Amino acid sequence: MKTGRKITQNRNETLALGAQLGSLAEENMVFLLSGDLGAGKTTLTQGIAKGLGIQRTVTSPTFTIQKLYRGGRLVLNHIDAYRLEGMSQDLGFDEYMYDGGLTVIEWSEFAPDLIPSEYLRITIRLLEQDAREFLFEAIGGKYETLLEELL
Ligand SMILES: Nc1ncnc2c1ncn2[C@@H]1O[C@H](COP(=O)(O)OP(=O)(O)OP(=O)(O)O)[C@@H](O)[C@H]1O
Ligand SMILES: [Mg+2]
Repeated sequence: MKTGRKITQNRNETLALGAQLGSLAEENMVFLLSGDLGAGKTTLTQGIAKGLGIQRTVTSPTFTIQKLYRGGRLVLNHIDAYRLEGMSQDLGFDEYMYDGGLTVIEWSEFAPDLIPSEYLRITIRLLEQDAREFLFEAIGGKYETLLEELL
């Protein structure tokens, strides 16, 4: 395991950090995003999409748990598991996880069945005002390499 830490001062810096992650991502990777409501998980995912070259804006609609974004270097498979809390049976959201794309899971703690043995976990913490702390835990060789390149 390898760990690291980054701080952003505002939304744009988080988008830029996400874009870096998007450009470093490889096919079939899984990023797990944790952090309180409004921490910046979707914002980071928007940056990741940008880094993959996806034009469409990533949103967090109320009733959609999983959404695919095509048109970039890799397909982005965005899962927001918040509404899955307490119902962790197989709902088929892993259908697209290893189909050559990049999977980003918000609130993965509510979808433990989707967590693979290797991943990059990103935990976001609110600091004062608009500052956010990003804690990275890379499990597995390809994620450790990615994290070394990111830091
Ligand atoms: N440094 C920062 N990085 C990211 N977002 C920031 C930052 N500073 C302020 N913000 C604001 O915080 C909010 C983050 O919202 P976002 O939807 O990304 O959070 P989330 O973690 O996905 O929340 P949820 O758990 O509800 O899905 C946005 O309104 C954004 O403008
Ligand atoms: Mg969100």
